[in-house]
Order: sequence, then structure tokens, then C-alpha cells
Amino acid sequence: MSLFNVYPLYNVTPVKAKDVYVYDDKDVEYLDLYGGHAVISIGHSHPKYVSAISNQVEKLGFYSNAIQNPLQVELADKLEELSGCKDYQLFLCNSGAEANENALKLASFHNGKHKILAFKNSFHGRTSAAVVATDNPKVVAPINAQQEVDFVDLGDLVSVETVLKANKTCAVIIECIQGVGGLDQSTTEFYQGLDQLCKQYNTALIADEVQSGFGRTGDFFAFQKHNIAPDIISIAKGMGNGFPVGGILIHPSIKASFGLLGTTFGGNHLACAATLSVLDVIQDQNLMQNAFNISDYFIKKAKDLPNLKAIKGRGLMLGLEFDFPILELRKTLIFKHHIFTGGAKNPNLIRILPPLTIKKKHIDLFFDALHKELN
Ligand SMILES: Cc1ncc(COP(=O)(O)O)c(C=O)c1O
Repeated sequence: MSLFNVYPLYNVTPVKAKDVYVYDDKDVEYLDLYGGHAVISIGHSHPKYVSAISNQVEKLGFYSNAIQNPLQVELADKLEELSGCKDYQLFLCNSGAEANENALKLASFHNGKHKILAFKNSFHGRTSAAVVATDNPKVVAPINAQQEVDFVDLGDLVSVETVLKANKTCAVIIECIQGVGGLDQSTTEFYQGLDQLCKQYNTALIADEVQSGFGRTGDFFAFQKHNIAPDIISIAKGMGNGFPVGGILIHPSIKASFGLLGTTFGGNHLACAATLSVLDVIQDQNLMQNAFNISDYFIKKAKDLPNLKAIKGRGLMLGLEFDFPILELRKTLIFKHHIFTGGAKNPNLIRILPPLTIKKKHIDLFFDALHKELN
């Protein structure tokens, strides 16, 4: 059987990894400034993570959501403590798209409306409702297209109000820092205005923190910089450091009832053990502070780069926008300098999403390589 050929692949075969380094089948060492799409938060194969998963699978890897699972309760408590999201409720699932799918569905159950408002250049995943809220017609199949979505420019409160006034929109879904789109963000005034309009027109505000959450920006969630309180917060990626896990944090004003949401695998024992160890390491190693510090260092160094148009993003979710397409430069970084970086919808932008354990010496390696290629 052949693989369904949907991914353009780099010719690199990683076989092991440790912290910020990945090793291929010829034992070449690569510096990982991409974390496998922002997934590696506490570093590859962190010893606490490895032992948490190994110990758990020896005891109990999985049982369904029909029994008591104290690990889910422990996880909800720990998440509340570290995120500061007091009194939110936790529903666990398996991926970012699934988190957004549940968030949108829950919003619609809650207020009885059916339309979605999303922002231009957004990416929210590939499932039924999440994919139509993604600003890329190429990934929307006819079966999804009957769902109604309005797209407005990030920052345009006037258009948001025009849409919400019609009283058909169940949810506004937003990445406070756009990931796949290219690291754009708006002002605190905009995010606060959006929060206020959602409350005024009985529309749920969904913060998609799938990429920006779990400490990546230096705050636990990116929206927290703007002092807003979303109705639903979606999480995945860095949450499991590679273990497939996602979830939504649900404001106490939204009430649960039996059968409203459900999943077979979501919140299983292994996923909870993995996520609990991620939270412990973020706390013990002060990784949010590290994200702030290294981000500062990165931004200062980036200012000396030639051909640079803008430095985008925040914390360890950063973008370097050049005045030329970066496809070839990224290939040179991988194959000559052995450094993984990411691309974005914006063809001129390199995306930097390293493990939160990264140090200044790794940033130096990256800028040395860039200077060699650009000067
Ligand atoms: C902001 C955001 N939301 C949702 C998703 C979808 O997550 P997943 O690929 O786990 O379904 C992504 C993936 O890149 C993302 O960046």
C-alpha cells in the first residue's frame, strides 16, 4: 500500500531527538527552531515526560469516558493554577481542529445561532466547522461549504459589529497571534472591543490558542496580554509535547449537560499523564520566563539582519519577514546549516517556533547561519 501523498516532504528522516536537537538516520544533528509545527514545548524526550508516559502506560493506558478518571480532575486543577483561568471547565479531545470544532458547536448549542465570524488569513484546522472558519478555499470541500462564515480584516471592529448586529452569529473565532497566516496581531484596543461586542450581541468569543497557548508567548495564553475573558479557549499542540491531545476551556456561564459533547479517546489516561508532565516542567523550569527572555534576545539580534522588512509575533512565536521569498533560504538552513525553521502563508516569512527550553547559544547559531547566507 502506498501513502496518500498529501505532504510535500523534505528529504530528512529524524530517528531520535533530545531537547532542541533532532538527529536523522545518518546521525546528523539538526537544531529544531520549529518544534514540529509548535508542538514541542518542553523539549524533545524530556526525561520527566518520558517517565510520566512510561509509568502511566504500565499501569493503565486507556479506558473510556464512562468511568472516573482522577487524572482529568488533576489536569483541570493544574491547568487552572498555571493559566490563571479561574472557574473555567475543561473538555478534553485529541487535536486542534477537534478543539475548535467542539468550541464552535458548543457556542451554537449555547446561543442557538448558526453563523461564524472569522478573520482573514486565519487557520483553525480541517474538520467540518473549523475548516470553513479557515481562510483558505483550497482546503474547504463542497460538503463543508454550506456552513456560513463571514471573514473580516483583523482589527476591523466596524465590520465585526455590522455582522454581529444581524444576530445570526454564534461565535467569533480568533487567533490573537495568527500562526499559519504569518504572525500578524492587532491592538489591545481591538481585542477588548471585540470582547465587548461579543458580549453585547450574545455571541461567543473563542480564543484559538492551539498554537499560541501553553506558555509559548511568555504568557500562558496570548489573549491574556489584552486582559479579555473569552467564552471558550481552544488548546492542543504544545499541550502534549507531541502526544496527541487537545481541549477547550469553557467559561462558567456555559452549562454542561450529559451527551452535549463526547469522544472516545479524548482525555485518556496517557494523554492526561503527558499533559500533566508538560505543565510540571513549564512550572519547574520557569519556561514562560525563558520564552520572554529569549524572545527579547532574538528580537535584538534580528534588528541587524539585511533584507528584513519586519519582525512579527511575540514570545517564542516569531516571524522574520524578508523582502524576498524565503523558500530557498529555508532549504539552505536545513541542508547546509542543519537548522529547522517554518514557513507561513506569507511566502516571505520564516516562522520560528522552538521548544521553550531554547537558550541564547542556539539563537546565536541561527543568526550566524543567516548572516552567512544574507551578507
Ligand atoms: C491556530 C491553529 N488552530 C488549529 C490548528 C489545527 O490543529 P490540528 O492540526 O491539531 O488539528 C492549527 C494547526 O496548525 C493552528 O495553528
